[in-house]
Amino acid sequence: MKCVDDFRLQLGKHELVPIMIGGMGVDISTADLALEAARLGGVGHISDAMINTVADRRYDTKHVKEKLALYKFNVLNEDKSPVKFNLGRLEEATRLHVEATMARKSGSGLVLINCMEKLTMNAPKETLKVRMSAALDAGIDGITLAAGLHLGSFALIEDHPRFRDAKLGIIVSSVRALQLFLKKNSRTGRLPDYVVVEGPLAGGHLGFGMDWAQYDLATIVAEVIQYLKNEHLDIPVIPAGGIFTGSDATGFLENGAAAVQVATRFTVSEECGLPADVKQEYFKASEEDIEVNQVSPTGYPMRMIKKSPGIGSGIRPNCEAYGYLLDANGKCAYVTSYNREVAAHPEARKVSVVDKTCLCTHMRNFDIWTCGQLTWRLKDTTRRLGDGSYQVLSAEHIFKDYQFSKDQSVALPDIAEA
Ligand SMILES: Cc1cc2nc3c(=O)[nH]c(=O)nc-3n(C[C@H](O)[C@H](O)[C@H](O)COP(=O)(O)O)c2cc1C
Repeated sequence: MKCVDDFRLQLGKHELVPIMIGGMGVDISTADLALEAARLGGVGHISDAMINTVADRRYDTKHVKEKLALYKFNVLNEDKSPVKFNLGRLEEATRLHVEATMARKSGSGLVLINCMEKLTMNAPKETLKVRMSAALDAGIDGITLAAGLHLGSFALIEDHPRFRDAKLGIIVSSVRALQLFLKKNSRTGRLPDYVVVEGPLAGGHLGFGMDWAQYDLATIVAEVIQYLKNEHLDIPVIPAGGIFTGSDATGFLENGAAAVQVATRFTVSEECGLPADVKQEYFKASEEDIEVNQVSPTGYPMRMIKKSPGIGSGIRPNCEAYGYLLDANGKCAYVTSYNREVAAHPEARKVSVVDKTCLCTHMRNFDIWTCGQLTWRLKDTTRRLGDGSYQVLSAEHIFKDYQFSKDQSVALPDIAEA
């Protein structure tokens, strides 16, 4: 019987353990987590979601305060279109995060950065170009294009000196999305180095509608592999979403996948950026506690734990400080919903907004607990401690469990020292 370690992912000259830890925004997939994957010979991701906030936390910059001071005049204004990002500060924040991460890298693996197109930042093209270029300048091994079709993303960096040498990949949830991506980016004469196929059981935003349950990862992966074969394109295909055990992963590798991308198992690792009490919520969650809803202002359905404190909160939008989801016209669906509620309840000191959430504020504060569908199985991957809490795992333990386990087994950690 085979295990994941019987396979290798070949990306250019790199021979890798075929385990990729997916990007988890606003520093849930921390540098520490990504670096562990690389040290162990696999692939890790940092994320550039809300990078100015992350830089302030980790590198002592004052970007958010500075932006808020600049746009304070607009806080009570319904129209958020004047609130723009300073591209120099965005560049600086990205560079700080990537350089600090890459300086600590060891092992034969790779560290990539997850770049979501949906972070439109009130100037989609300009900000995405700066984010990707700065990451390449700062030495990232590669970029995974996420949360969007990215039809023009390669063109934004085609003049960058590292455009051809850095690893560039795309996340899709259908053959159709991949076809479109390849067609629209073909003008640059460059193919993606890998394609992550994300199915309906993943965490974060989904590339499906509310009919997500009708789709199946294995079927989409088989379609993508067949399509690439028909087109004579030799691009590694990396399934993601609901791959919970080493045996699940091995099954995909035996069927032609080049690697797997996993995330949920690592949300309860020591290296994961979620606060300790939130990790316990992930452990405790039952299947009924997890839902796919439409509260994200991005327009994509998102999976989360139902009792996430950010759901239903009617806080005033914080676009002057954050504003990552403002579209090209300075609009965000949460701002629209909030303004509607304020207009409907002019006397209320505080309104409640149930259809959308202020994702920037709540992701920043770890109050939207996005998670994969199989989060309810996390409790079976660890031990219960004397005080009733669950033992947090090391990323190394989880990585090696994926790498070596067989027979659908999940290795429990050593008993924690009291
Ligand atoms: C907490 C969490 C946050 C996530 N955030 C992002 C993100 O910011 N960008 C992205 O492309 N995918 C995101 N994802 C999706 C993962 O990168 C990954 O593809 C997927 O969750 C894999 O499925 P699994 O969690 O069942 O292993 C997130 C997943 C989780 C669990």
